Amino acid sequence: MSWYRNTVWFVKGLREYTRGGYESASKRFNAADVEVDVAGRSFLVTGANSGIGKATAKEIARRGGTVHLVCRNKERAEVAKEEIVTETGNQNIFLHIVDLSNPKEIWKFAEKFQNEHKLNVLEFVLQINNAGCMVNNRELTEDGLEKNFATNTLGTYIMTTALLPLLEKAADARVITVSSGGMLVQKLNISDLQSESGSFDGTMVYAQNKRQQVVLTEQWAKAHRNIHFSVMHPGWADTPAVRSSMPDFYERMKSSLRTEAQGADTILWLAVSAEATKLPSGLFFQDRQPVPTHLPLAYTHSPPEDEEKLMEMLEEFSQKFKSISPGI
Ligand SMILES: NC(=O)c1ccc[n+]([C@@H]2O[C@H](COP(=O)([O-])OP(=O)(O)OC[C@H]3O[C@@H](n4cnc5c(N)ncnc54)[C@H](OP(=O)(O)O)[C@@H]3O)[C@@H](O)[C@H]2O)c1
Repeated sequence: MSWYRNTVWFVKGLREYTRGGYESASKRFNAADVEVDVAGRSFLVTGANSGIGKATAKEIARRGGTVHLVCRNKERAEVAKEEIVTETGNQNIFLHIVDLSNPKEIWKFAEKFQNEHKLNVLEFVLQINNAGCMVNNRELTEDGLEKNFATNTLGTYIMTTALLPLLEKAADARVITVSSGGMLVQKLNISDLQSESGSFDGTMVYAQNKRQQVVLTEQWAKAHRNIHFSVMHPGWADTPAVRSSMPDFYERMKSSLRTEAQGADTILWLAVSAEATKLPSGLFFQDRQPVPTHLPLAYTHSPPEDEEKLMEMLEEFSQKFKSISPGI
């Protein structure tokens, strides 16, 4: 079955996820959708120093938005901030140093950020969970968490739930999570969130985390009706992550990969267009349109109780780290 899923997915990818796929999809795009002035609105972008996150931050900055770059490495982040300010002329670009694999740091950041924005919550609009990683060996964080899970799933969960009080009060609040089409090969598995048993396959762990992000988005959409949630696949884009984490794939596909800006296009559309929020909350997007979250005949549907259980388990993890964070 996994051979079937992988093959169907790869063939689909060759047609849809490549630069050619983007060029063909973009023929139906309406350019005016993203010709929007977002001055006065605030956008928080994680992993904004590189690849798709930086391309997204730049396009929002070009449209006048206030952009909060959330990055883990100060030097890399400062270089990116400088580039965004210089290229766009927008001075309202702010930097926050947070390692998203470290739950305590996320809680601390969220508390500080909310305190700073207490008085002008209505201008806060949007959060883009873009940071992600594919670590190919089983590595643990200082808290003993498996790194892919900590960054992609738990980090995304805590970053979003910690900022919910702010988002709940904002006008036109949107949360966009950058998942991956790779999630289509995985059925939600809540029995081994930290990959403790069996052999470790970083690509499949990453794909499982990306499936979990889709489930999180669907669950958040049901629970928080005045926030618009979406999750998306950027396509296959030429970024540092692809080059370093998937060298064989990169070598094979490098001439067909999307640019970073093409990968960022649907995130931008979900973030700034009026069209995006006319669609229901909780959907999975590719090239500016909702697409199915399962491949045909792939048997990746999970029972609703597993999806609810995932939320409970993540809440338990997150509370464990919240309670030991000073001042919260
Ligand atoms: N490129 C593709 O073809 C593709 C396809 C499907 C999905 N995606 C998704 O797109 C998103 C962006 O990836 P990308 O391709 O643009 O790769 P990228 O250029 O390497 O960007 C990844 C970003 O995430 C940050 N990050 C990773 N771990 C972090 C942590 N613990 N704390 C804070 N930030 C962290 C990285 O920071 P550093 O610079 O410090 O490492 C970097 O800024 C990811 O979620 C990825 O899964 C990409």
